[in-house]
Amino acid sequence: MAAIDEIKNNINIVDLVSETVKLRRTGKNYIGFCPFHSNTHTPAFVVFPDSGTWRCFGQCAEGGDIFSYLMKRDGLDFQQALQMLAKRAGVQLEDAQSEDKSSRETRKRLIQMMSDAADLYQNNLLLSPAGKRALAYLEKRGITRESMEKFRMGYALDSWDSSLQHLLSKEYTREEIIAVGLVSEQRNEKGDPVPDGRVYDRFRNRIMIPICDSTGNPIAFGARILNPDDVPKFLNSPQTVLFDKGKTLFGLNHAKRAIREKNQAVIVEGYLDVIVLHQAGFANTVSPMGTALGEFQARQLARQARQIILALDADAAGDNATRKGIDMMRSALKGGGEAAGADGRNLIRQESKLHTDIRITKIPEGMDPDEVVLRNPDEWQRILDQAKPIVIYMMETASEGRDLDDGKVKSEIAEQILPLIFEVPDPIERETYRQQLARHLKISETLLQYTPAVKTQPRNVAKARAAFPEKPRLTSESSLIFDPKAGFYSKEITILQYLFHFYESPGSFSKIDRIFRKFHLMPLQPEDFEQTDLREIAECYFKGINQDEELNTKKYIRDNLPDTVTATFARIEKPNFQGSVNLVELDKDLARSIAFLRNEKCNFSIIEIQTLCGDGADTDSGPKEFQPILEQLKRERNHLEKLLDSLSQKYG
Ligand code: UTP
Ligand code: MN
Repeated sequence: MAAIDEIKNNINIVDLVSETVKLRRTGKNYIGFCPFHSNTHTPAFVVFPDSGTWRCFGQCAEGGDIFSYLMKRDGLDFQQALQMLAKRAGVQLEDAQSEDKSSRETRKRLIQMMSDAADLYQNNLLLSPAGKRALAYLEKRGITRESMEKFRMGYALDSWDSSLQHLLSKEYTREEIIAVGLVSEQRNEKGDPVPDGRVYDRFRNRIMIPICDSTGNPIAFGARILNPDDVPKFLNSPQTVLFDKGKTLFGLNHAKRAIREKNQAVIVEGYLDVIVLHQAGFANTVSPMGTALGEFQARQLARQARQIILALDADAAGDNATRKGIDMMRSALKGGGEAAGADGRNLIRQESKLHTDIRITKIPEGMDPDEVVLRNPDEWQRILDQAKPIVIYMMETASEGRDLDDGKVKSEIAEQILPLIFEVPDPIERETYRQQLARHLKISETLLQYTPAVKTQPRNVAKARAAFPEKPRLTSESSLIFDPKAGFYSKEITILQYLFHFYESPGSFSKIDRIFRKFHLMPLQPEDFEQTDLREIAECYFKGINQDEELNTKKYIRDNLPDTVTATFARIEKPNFQGSVNLVELDKDLARSIAFLRNEKCNFSIIEIQTLCGDGADTDSGPKEFQPILEQLKRERNHLEKLLDSLSQKYG
C-alpha cells in the first residue's frame, strides 16, 4: 500500500483533532469550535470519521483531510505534515530525509549561480562599454544608480554564449546551468531537448532584472528588450526548481517591511514600475510575474497586510487578453463583458476567504505607474487614496460612458452588479452597497431586493422542483465519467485521470473553464480536491497547463510532481476509464461530472449545516454564523443546477 494510504488508515482524524479541539459526537460525525477562526458561540467545525475529513461551515468555509488539517494547524507544508504523520502512524517513508538534505544543498548551489550571473550582468551594465546603451536607457527611464544597485539590475550582452562560458569557467556544470534556465537547449521537432545538443544563452541584449524570493535570493530573471523590434518585450526565466512564478512576487524582498508597517500592499503590473515606485518611497509595492495575481500570492500578502490595492495598468488589459492563465485580477479590471461579473465575484470570494480588504484603483489612461510617480509623487499617493472597494469599482466601470437616465442601461447595470453585492458576506457592508447602487442608478432601493435571476424565479423554481423532486437528479446519468454512487475520493481520482489524459496541452482545459464561467461558477481549481495528495497533483497539473512554453504537460507533471505524491500519481497515470470515452462530448461530460460532484458536495454541506442548526426544516433560523456560507452554498447550488440542467438538455 502506498505510504499515504497507510497513514490515512492508521490515523484516526477524530483523535488527531481532539488533541487541540474539544469535539462532541453527533450521529456519525463530531462537531466542535473551529480552531482556525475565533468563535465561541457556534460550533461550526465538523469532523467526518468515515471519510477522514474535516470542514468548517463558519467563516473559514474550508475543509480537507488529516494532512491539510495539520498543515493549517501547525503552519506546515505537505512534506512536513507527511513526515510528522508518518512518524505518528509508524509508517516508513523512503529516505525523504537524506533527499531533503541533498536538495537543500543543490538549491543553495543553484542560487549561488544565479547570484554570480546577476553580478556578471551588473558588471556588464555598469562597467562595460557594451552596457552603455542599456545604462543610458535606464537613466532615461528615471532609474537611479542606487536603485540599479539595490535591485541588482544588469545587462546581458548580445552574445550566444558569454553567460554560458562565464558560468562554466566558475565550475558550474552544463546541467546546472540548464536547470536554472539561463541557457536554452537545442530541441528536436518533437520539442524534446537533443541529448548533448547545443546550448546557448537564453538572454541576449536585454536588461536583466533579478527576481528574488522573499529573503532576497535571486531565483529567476525578468529580461527586457533594448531593441524596440525584438520580441517578446519581457522574457522571463522558465519555471525551474528555484522559480515558481505563481508563488513569487517581484519586489517582495524589499517590500516586506513596508507592507507590514503600512498594513497595506500595493500591486502593480510591471517590474520597472515596482523599481521606480520603491525609489520614490512607495516601498510597499510588488508585482506578479506578468500574470494575474494568483491565490497563493494573494494569500501571502494577506498574511502581512489587511489591505491589498490593485493598481494595474488600465491599458495593459487589452493586449494581454490573449495571454494564458486564469486572469482573475485583470478580468476584474476590464469591467463589462460576460466574464467580468464572474471574475468580480471571484475577487469578492477571495477577499472574504482571505479576510482582507481588496481595493482597486485606476491609473490614468495611457500612463504607467512609473510615469505617474516620476511626474509627481503626490499624484501617485492620490491614486492610491482613491482606491475603491471591488463592488464600487465595478459599479463605476460598468457605468462609464453610459446614459444613466436610460431605463435599459440602469437595468443592465443592476443585473451586472447585484450578483456581486450578494456575494459580500458582511451584511452591513452588503446593505451599504445596495443603497449606493440604488442612489447611483437613481432608483428605489426596494427594486434591488433580489438578484436579477429572482425576477423570474417563481417559474424557474417550480420548474426546477418538478425536475428535481428533492435533490437534483440528472435525466441521464450515463454520460457521467464516473459512477454517480462512488465516493468523493474515487470521483476526484477519475476527474484527475481525465484531465491528465485528455486535457494535457496548455489551453485545452480553457473550454471547461468557459462553461463554468458562463454559469457564474468558479473554474475547476485545486481546492475542488478534498484529499491533500490529490490537491497537490491538481496544483501541479494546473501549473503544467499554464506553462508559458509549449511544453508537454504530461512531461511537466512527471518532472515537477513532489515526491510525496508519486504513489498516488501512479493511480492517475494508469486509468480505468469506464466503457468507451466519448471524445466528441468529452468537454460537456467532464464539465457535467465536475458540476455533479460539486453539487453533491454542496448538498452534503447544506444538510450538514441543517444538522448543526439542529433543525432540518428551517435553516434560516439557525445561528447567524452559518448564514453567509449557507447563502453562498445555495447560490452555488442554484448555478450548478442551471449548468447541469442546460447540459443535460443538450443530450435530449
Ligand atoms: P508591460 O508591457 O506593461 O511593460 O508589461 P512595463 O512593465 O510597463 O514595461 P515598460 O514600461 O514598457 O518598460 C507589464 C508586465 O507584464 C510582464 C512583465 O512582468 C511586465 O513587467 N510581461 C510583459 C511579460 O512577462 N512578457 C511580455 O512580453 C510583456
Ligand atoms: Mn511601463
